[in-house]
Amino acid sequence: MYSIIYRSVAVPNFSKFDIYQMLSKARSFNNDNDITGCLLYHNNEFVQLLEGEKEKINSLFDNIKKDKRHEKIQTLDEMEISERIFIDWDMAYHDFSDNTSVPHEKMRQIDAIFDKSSAFTKPSRLSMDFFKNVNQILFKKS
Ligand SMILES: Cc1cc2nc3c(=O)[nH]c(=O)nc-3n(C[C@H](O)[C@H](O)[C@H](O)COP(=O)(O)O)c2cc1C
Repeated sequence: MYSIIYRSVAVPNFSKFDIYQMLSKARSFNNDNDITGCLLYHNNEFVQLLEGEKEKINSLFDNIKKDKRHEKIQTLDEMEISERIFIDWDMAYHDFSDNTSVPHEKMRQIDAIFDKSSAFTKPSRLSMDFFKNVNQILFKKS
């Protein structure tokens, strides 16, 4: 199994409504292709983790890189993995500007990681740890 993490910048007219529409199609495709992962939206930037069979992940990422709804796509990490982080999710999604559902302290933690971590300014192994934290803090179904 394989995983890719990248960041990108949303084009100015990519509205929240458009993002939800994109996400709904993406989840259905991911479900059909046994792809899991997590998409985060923060200050007009996306950070996404894709997990699945290597050929499928590479081919989806090729498609995503051609998508005109975002730009400045930068791969942060890609690696063979033995297990998924987002096993239960076709594509977990969190918009950090829409933070009412997240308790203040958790939000502060995530913000700190997102803003300050060197994982998000240059390619780094730390970006995988970041998503493990995100999974624990935001998405764990207990
Ligand atoms: C930030 C971002 C994340 C995306 N994530 C996915 C995804 O996880 N799965 C997916 O099928 N499409 C995703 N897409 C959409 C793809 O870029 C593309 O539109 C989709 O693969 C359909 O391609 P097609 O129109 O060539 O068939 C994403 C697009 C953006 C901008």
